[in-house]
Amino acid sequence: MSLPAVVPAPASIEAGSGAPFRLTSATSVSGDADAAAALAATLTARTGLTPAAPSTGSGTDESAGIELRIAAGGAPESYRITVDEASIVVTGADAAGLFYGVQTLGQLVARDGGDWVVPAVAIEDAPRFAYRGVMLDVARHFHGVDTVKGYIDRASSLKLNALHLHLTDDQGWRIQLASRPELTEKASGTAIGGDPGGFYTKDDYREIVEYAASRHMIVVPEVDMPGHTHAVGLAYPELAEDPVISDHMREIVDVYGGGALPEPGVPFEALAVGFSSLKIHDEATYDFVADVFGELAAMTPGPYLHFGGDESLATADDDFAYFVTRVSALIADLGKTPVAWHEAGSAKDVADTTIGQYWGYVTPQEGFAAKAQTFVDNGASLILSPADAIYLDMKYPSGPELGLTWANGPTSVQDAYSWEPADVVPGVGDEGILGVEAPLWTETIRTAADIDTMVFPRVAAAAEAGWSPRTGESDLRTWESFRARVGALGPLWTSMGIGFHPSEEIPWVTE
Ligand code: ACM
Repeated sequence: MSLPAVVPAPASIEAGSGAPFRLTSATSVSGDADAAAALAATLTARTGLTPAAPSTGSGTDESAGIELRIAAGGAPESYRITVDEASIVVTGADAAGLFYGVQTLGQLVARDGGDWVVPAVAIEDAPRFAYRGVMLDVARHFHGVDTVKGYIDRASSLKLNALHLHLTDDQGWRIQLASRPELTEKASGTAIGGDPGGFYTKDDYREIVEYAASRHMIVVPEVDMPGHTHAVGLAYPELAEDPVISDHMREIVDVYGGGALPEPGVPFEALAVGFSSLKIHDEATYDFVADVFGELAAMTPGPYLHFGGDESLATADDDFAYFVTRVSALIADLGKTPVAWHEAGSAKDVADTTIGQYWGYVTPQEGFAAKAQTFVDNGASLILSPADAIYLDMKYPSGPELGLTWANGPTSVQDAYSWEPADVVPGVGDEGILGVEAPLWTETIRTAADIDTMVFPRVAAAAEAGWSPRTGESDLRTWESFRARVGALGPLWTSMGIGFHPSEEIPWVTE
């Protein structure tokens, strides 16, 4: 008997021999109310059925239909599902585990002629890594609260539990801060290519954080520095060095257009990177950093504050190390865990708790692994975002014109899938890996539909790298299995309104 398709692949799944459970308008859902609401949303979208409330008493009668419950004791975020002809029982070790069990159950629902069924099955499941993220760049193009909420729904359905928001860059500052109101007043109005800008008010940010929490996701805010800070100079010219224009930059602006070369005090609307820097030896810079991260710490319930640190090509190496050391210590002193792109590992005195986010290739370029190693040597760990696998803004080999190609050319769905986290940074195995995150940079990504097309189906590969057993430890962790399982999700994704790229690599099921 073939196994039902679940993505990311569960730790253990066994097909039952009996008849499936039949969903009808009389099927009742009992138990945890939040999980029941999440299930109702999925079931109604997928089948049109609205589950009934339990008709009798206690809510523990398994024969009543679908029972959703929390039973402490298992691994964090773990769950079990048993389905037979008479009942479906989903048990989470915690609220997140139960939510993930519900997501799996949504994937199990299948058509049987004119009916809806859930095949008999037993699943036991728990994540491999604690951190499973997506990143959305809202600086190059701004994406409003509704789009972000939609992204949270989509990501959490694949058991991703972190939304990293890249809130600032050369092209704009997107988060309102009471301590520094000039940032959004003077530096949020534009985006790449003359497109409109925008920013989140403090209420918007709170709404995003609360919505994410309701889907068991944390928000990781990033304020990128000391490079990627041209927008800061629009609000605070005294904190910004003049742009450093390289030949490479001239070439990028020539090829990609979008806007003119950067000038102090003028919004930057092109794509190039690596020209801006905060002033490193001016105490006013650290007053600014303290205000920004102090306020973000108070606004952000999750443990992480990301300070960027990538591509600071206009900052001298010694200055960069000094800055990274100071800013990481400042964030640690706020009681938060600093996160930085792996370049910050060139500063050997980076705060010991700092998590490094590796964005080199699956096979690291010269020098990249050594920088990533610093965080592990310090006793902290890595988030893996290999750019030639799970940078979701890389072009597909065929299909939409959206995206860039700098990370080893276009990225197929198979490229996104075909890597093993413990084999990326030599010597860094599971104990040195906090998790996996798939970034979406938005130089060319302007709308919610653009996001869907670039993210789906490739984000499912990142979700599987973050959640599922390591390659070689499960028969399901192969490209052939993955492509078939993802193909089976087509109707569910369509019912959720996801405009996925219908990649020809995937055998899409239409119903
Ligand atoms: C990055 O792609 N510059 C982190």
